[in-house]
Amino acid sequence: MSQTKHEWRSRVSCLAWSCSLQPHPVVPDCPAVLAHAHSAGSDAHGVLWFEPPRSSFFPLVARCCQVMSETPDLASPPDLGIVSCVLSGGSRGLGRSLASELCARFQPGSELLLVARTESLLRHLAEELNRSHPGVTVSWHVADLGTDEGICGVAAEAKRGFRNHSQAGRLLIINNAGSLGDVKKFFLDFTKPDDMTVYLSLNVSSAMCFTSSLLRAFPGRPGLQRIVVNISSLAALHPFKSWSLYCTGKAAREMMFKVLAAEQKNIRVLSYAPGPLDTEMHELARAESADPELRQFLANQKDDDKLVDCDVTVRKLVGILLADSFESGAHIDFYDEV
Ligand SMILES: NC(=O)c1ccc[n+]([C@@H]2O[C@H](COP(=O)([O-])OP(=O)(O)OC[C@H]3O[C@@H](n4cnc5c(N)ncnc54)[C@H](OP(=O)(O)O)[C@@H]3O)[C@@H](O)[C@H]2O)c1
Repeated sequence: MSQTKHEWRSRVSCLAWSCSLQPHPVVPDCPAVLAHAHSAGSDAHGVLWFEPPRSSFFPLVARCCQVMSETPDLASPPDLGIVSCVLSGGSRGLGRSLASELCARFQPGSELLLVARTESLLRHLAEELNRSHPGVTVSWHVADLGTDEGICGVAAEAKRGFRNHSQAGRLLIINNAGSLGDVKKFFLDFTKPDDMTVYLSLNVSSAMCFTSSLLRAFPGRPGLQRIVVNISSLAALHPFKSWSLYCTGKAAREMMFKVLAAEQKNIRVLSYAPGPLDTEMHELARAESADPELRQFLANQKDDDKLVDCDVTVRKLVGILLADSFESGAHIDFYDEV
């Protein structure tokens, strides 16, 4: 077999296209993959998105990996440069995957601050990332973002901790922390305003204050791109029975960030819906959603392997940030072709 670099790049890209970007990924057999090769874009990193693995593809994937590692311009994926990044909900689930992928895509000199409530998880993750990415400084800050005190401390901590911010080309603020809320109740069961207030305080108010305090702490300057990512959901756009808190919070949060995009033309704002993920939040939703049809739908997502791997969706998000062609304030879903 003698393939040119271009042909191998196309094959790699095609695997990514087939496996991660389609709403219902169907992995075709090898000849079909190769037939798609020339319409597949050019993200050579995509071979790593191959999921779920099918044994018939292993030889091709192995060969692609070998070619990628031997070919200098395929071996190192594009990076985000020197970045100062604050990530909420960085202790587990999607946030954990985000932290790992970002460190791999940051240049040495970058700094990442993880924020969540569980110190042991934050500490272990920061230690692990500092070991595996010695050029990136990963620190953590324990805060309950559902409280005023929790939110207030984050910007001060970032200001104190980011020693290399003057060298950074990007400030990246990721609003990932969130909760599902009480999904055991239907709309008519919510009679106490406090139930709603507490939920909105973490999922809406805190996201606004977290973001604004960080943007104020790190003002714009020439050579610095400021990016705000809101981790959103299909639930921001679509009503799910018994999820009135979650849907309301996600919809409000998304509009809030659209207003930021409208007001601050020099800040890039993205709402990214990561797809259904195999995390504790989905587990809770499967167990507790009051609506039986929804419960069944969620159970089927899990049983039929329809949940998206956190690492896969994170790579798609990083690709969107790197391409930098989204309209500020836009909602982009994992399943969107971008
Ligand atoms: N799972 C899905 O299917 C799905 C689908 C679409 C969108 N999303 C969105 O993706 C994001 C991450 O979800 P996930 O599935 O990874 O959820 P998860 O596994 O429940 O993780 C939630 C994260 O938020 C943090 N967090 C929760 N309450 C907090 C608080 N009061 N203060 C500070 N941090 C807090 C948690 O850390 P601590 O507990 O350590 O504080 C954890 O790191 C959420 O915004 C979610 O709405 C999820």
